[in-house]
Amino acid sequence: MKIAVIPGDGIGPEVVKQAIVVLEAVAQKFGHRFEFQEVLMGGAALDAVGVPLPDETLKVCLKSDAVLLGAVGGPKWDDLSGHLRPEAGLLGIRKGLNLFANLRPAKVFPQLKSASTLKEEVLGEGLDILVVRELTGDVYFGDKGRAEIPGGQKAWDTAVYSTHEVERVAHVAFKIARGRRRKVTSVDKANVLESSRLWREVVSRVGQQYPDVELNHMYVDNAAMQLIRNPSQFDVILTTNMFGDILSDEAAMLTGSLGMLPSASLGEGKLGLYEPVHGSAPDIAGQDKANPIATIMSAAMMLRYSFGLEQEAQAVEDAVSRVLEQGYRTADIATPGTIVVGTREMGHLIAQNL
Ligand code: NAD
Ligand code: IPM
Ligand code: MN
Repeated sequence: MKIAVIPGDGIGPEVVKQAIVVLEAVAQKFGHRFEFQEVLMGGAALDAVGVPLPDETLKVCLKSDAVLLGAVGGPKWDDLSGHLRPEAGLLGIRKGLNLFANLRPAKVFPQLKSASTLKEEVLGEGLDILVVRELTGDVYFGDKGRAEIPGGQKAWDTAVYSTHEVERVAHVAFKIARGRRRKVTSVDKANVLESSRLWREVVSRVGQQYPDVELNHMYVDNAAMQLIRNPSQFDVILTTNMFGDILSDEAAMLTGSLGMLPSASLGEGKLGLYEPVHGSAPDIAGQDKANPIATIMSAAMMLRYSFGLEQEAQAVEDAVSRVLEQGYRTADIATPGTIVVGTREMGHLIAQNL
């Protein structure tokens, strides 16, 4: 199994390294062989070759079975124009690999309930939400620009969705809901946005093909509030690119930290891209402080979705749970009485506990 590895910037290389430590332990224990090929993207690519997404990187990814990504971006590259920013590399790779469905599971480990900023009674028992975020459309990819006008400039970004784009991601959400609690909440802003009105129509139509799955619609402002008022009402949240970006960071805090949330970006085939939901965290980069669990759990999603290795994926998730049970925490999820460890030690503990 060939894995393209994009460490990226900031804490990206630190957390990716620990995911590889865990994948290597999986290979050893279960008798697999993973071949890792490192490629450049983001700020690291800008520094080395002057573009955020070199052609070579896309080529290597297309020839791989899966892509493991850390995070990109940082203050060093913040003043570059839009198409040269590290983040443009990330958008380019998602689009280039046609990864239109981004799965972001927010599952609360019982051991971490007290690490959440929400009251334990709000979290309830076994909170488990899956955000299915559309990833290659919306205001991220529509027409954008700037123009001079009297008194200054104007700038625009256009939110666009086609029927086909909504259909394919809706099918992903409904199919996944069938293996869960059979409830899809579609989140939009159909009271204001035309693209959301099309979204709602198409999701409703697709929903009719899944009569066994309950569908409800919610406006995004209400959804943002409901997520922290009563998160247990949600099973699968199906939403647009921009709203999914924002709501998944919010959902992360239910789990205790942004450092806990993994993701899988999928398209039509088996090739997927696996990355933590968090960014490059420049504030803690290079200090061995970052929580590698989001990236390690992303590697577990890779085992499950790209390689069909369910048992191995489960073994990684169980190892994470065991290490938390033993009381080990990175600083972001530490609570009184727990043992604070660094990025490297956390990765090694999880590998040992497989
Ligand atoms: P961020 O996610 O990098 O950090 C937000 C906060 O969460 C920070 O306080 C950070 O220290 C903390 N945090 C994040 N990941 C953590 C981890 N694993 N362990 C412990 N703490 C963690 O978001 P930001 O600060 O808004 O963005 C920083 C840079 O990352 C920007 O350039 C942004 O564009 C980029 N970014 C990249 C991605 C990506 O590559 N997928 C995602 C989000 C942001
Ligand atoms: C994410 C990030 C990216 C996004 C940025 C860095 C382009 O925030 O993966 O959540 O908005 O999709
Ligand atoms: Mn984000």
